[in-house]
Amino acid sequence: MGRLDDKVAVITGGASGIGAGTVRRFAEEGAKVLITDLDEEKGTALASELGDDAAFLRTDVSTEEDVAAMIAEATDRWGRLDCLYNNAGFGGALGPIAKTTVEDYDLTMDVLLKSVFLGMKHAAPVMTEQGSGSIISTASVAGIRVGYAPHLYSVAKCAVIHLTKTVALELGEHNVRVNAICPGFIATPLAAGRPDADESQIQQMRDAGATSQVLGRVGEPADIANMALFLASDESEWMTGQEFIVDGGFEAGRPWSKWPKFAKMERPIRHHRPPGR
Ligand SMILES: NC(=O)c1ccc[n+]([C@@H]2O[C@H](COP(=O)([O-])OP(=O)(O)OC[C@H]3O[C@@H](n4cnc5c(N)ncnc54)[C@H](O)[C@@H]3O)[C@@H](O)[C@H]2O)c1
Repeated sequence: MGRLDDKVAVITGGASGIGAGTVRRFAEEGAKVLITDLDEEKGTALASELGDDAAFLRTDVSTEEDVAAMIAEATDRWGRLDCLYNNAGFGGALGPIAKTTVEDYDLTMDVLLKSVFLGMKHAAPVMTEQGSGSIISTASVAGIRVGYAPHLYSVAKCAVIHLTKTVALELGEHNVRVNAICPGFIATPLAAGRPDADESQIQQMRDAGATSQVLGRVGEPADIANMALFLASDESEWMTGQEFIVDGGFEAGRPWSKWPKFAKMERPIRHHRPPGR
């Protein structure tokens, strides 16, 4: 028995990184998966590797027409929609605020935020009609804490968390759950700084990032895929409106070995009692 037997899922950004890892995990657990992405070559290759229970549709998640077609493709093909995972993304506009153009702002928000709105908008009627469903979106620890990503990326991810919560309140009345996942540093082309990063560039990112992680390594797509699997499955049927941090302890703080010396000193606390007591 798979944990997602008889379930139909759509995963955006499913051709690479976290999305591809989640596609594989969902397929292993018995789901039928529609992989959507801009990258046709990788998306088609993954779908054909997985066989009849997977298909690929080229989709630009920042375009309403494409997102509507993506939801229709899943329901036409398999008759229902149990999980939409809004995961596609990129780094967005870089650099100082004064140098950020309005075009860069629009593109960043379209790909990272409007896409999530569109996914929710088009999945909601299908799922409310069914009386069940799980919408998951990839936010980021950068949506919780500033200083780890460019300005607009942080803002868009913060807004994804808020959109998750407010839409959860509406759709919960129809037994449709809406949650977000906040990954820390995950070894993917995006985190390596370029969409076409090869395995050796991703390995460099793993090596450089490991020492700042409480659990001693950066994350892998499978770490996020396992949380997405839980949120897509019936095991999480009483969970909605939440952002789940999956970050190897990064958001909690610095690893013990990086703490300042005084915090780690082994000596008893000296009590300064007022005289006469
Ligand atoms: N890797 C990390 O450290 C990390 C951390 C926090 C959050 N995230 C988020 O995780 C998600 C997945 O990123 P990843 O690290 O797997 O990166 P990735 O580059 O491996 O995968 C992103 C995928 O999204 C696709 N994509 C980009 N724009 C698109 C569009 N307009 N329409 C459809 N597909 C599009 C890309 O083609 C690519 O296949 C993103 O939302 C990202 O912001 C990543």
